[in-house]
Amino acid sequence: MSFVREIELASLGDSRGELVVLEENKNIPFDIKRVYYIYGVDPKIPRGFHAHKETKQVAICLSGQCTMLMDDGKNKVNVLMNSPKQGVLIDVMQWHEMHDFSEDCILMVLASDLYNESDYIRDYNTFKNLMDEKHV
Ligand code: TYD
Repeated sequence: MSFVREIELASLGDSRGELVVLEENKNIPFDIKRVYYIYGVDPKIPRGFHAHKETKQVAICLSGQCTMLMDDGKNKVNVLMNSPKQGVLIDVMQWHEMHDFSEDCILMVLASDLYNESDYIRDYNTFKNLMDEKHV
C-alpha cells in the first residue's frame, strides 16, 4: 500500500454544476492557516523540491493537471492530479515535487501554518539522511 494519502472531496453538484466544500478538521485534517495557488507554470519547469518539518498541506488541482512526486525517504510515488475532487495530503517530512504542469493548471494548496522558511528542508540529502536516521 502506498504511503500517499489521497482525500476524496465530495461534490455537492447538481444540474447547475459542481460545488466542493473544504472545512478545517473535517475533510481537511488540520486548522487551515494559509492558502496559496500556483498557476501559469511553464510545463517544462518543475516546482517544489522540498519537505516540511511541521507544516501539513493538502494540494488540490482546480484546473488542468500536473504530477505530484511524493517521496517518504524510502518510496517514491507519482500521483496524477487532474480533478478538483482529489486532495493529496502532503504530510510532514514528505519530499514533494510537482512536474508536467499543463498550461491551464491551477494548483491550490491549503497549509496548516503560516509561511516560515525555516520549516523547509530544501536539500534532498539532508531530508534523506533525516529519514534514514528515523528508520534505523
Ligand atoms: P517556492 O517554495 O519556491 O515555491 P514552490 O514550492 O512552488 O517551488 O516559493 C516561491 C517563493 O514564494 C519563495 O520566495 C517563497 C515565497 N512564498 C511565500 O512567501 N509564502 C508562501 O506561502 C509560499 C508557498 C512561498
